[in-house]
Amino acid sequence: MDSPVLEAIYKRRSIREFTSAQISTEKLHEIVRAGIWAPSGLNNQPWRFVIIQKPDIKEELAQQTHYGHIVSGANALIAVYLSKDDMYDAVKDHQSAGACIQNILLAAEALELGAVWLGQILKNKAEVNRILGLADNFDLMAVVALGHPLHRNQKSRRKDMSELLLKQL
Ligand SMILES: Cc1cc2nc3c(=O)[nH]c(=O)nc-3n(C[C@H](O)[C@H](O)[C@H](O)COP(=O)(O)O)c2cc1C
Repeated sequence: MDSPVLEAIYKRRSIREFTSAQISTEKLHEIVRAGIWAPSGLNNQPWRFVIIQKPDIKEELAQQTHYGHIVSGANALIAVYLSKDDMYDAVKDHQSAGACIQNILLAAEALELGAVWLGQILKNKAEVNRILGLADNFDLMAVVALGHPLHRNQKSRRKDMSELLLKQL
């Protein structure tokens, strides 16, 4: 099927190695805007974002995850938060955050950037909040690492639909 959206969905891979090229603020804001346009329950838009490009802050964040080399090598990071004060239903608000993060990944793909969703860093979410100067009413959902891809050799696979489609009634 010839569709730019489907093409982005199928072509997107987690990119973990980046060149040192800068990402413009314009592009970073476009990516955050795509996140903001995700659906959310009651359209409550519980997400909040921190954009990080300062090398010293990136280094501090890199200490908080097993994937520190990805954090250090990325030109920019977008930390995606749920604002606890703006939540109405834990399950639905977390689902909204997932939709927001996927939009961010697809927007990066559309802008020919590479991105990876980093979740392992959540084990140190309190420390991440301290580094970013945020109170604990902001709950970290993911850090997305972004940059210009060093290569696009990344492979991935998915289970066959026959394993996943329970029924077609
Ligand atoms: C909730 C979640 C957490 C993830 N955490 C990490 C992570 O900490 N480090 C990492 O390198 N990749 C992480 N990933 C990326 C996955 O490893 C990746 O999406 C998966 O292997 C499929 O590969 P693909 O994105 O290239 O299709 C995470 C993805 C999700 C959805």
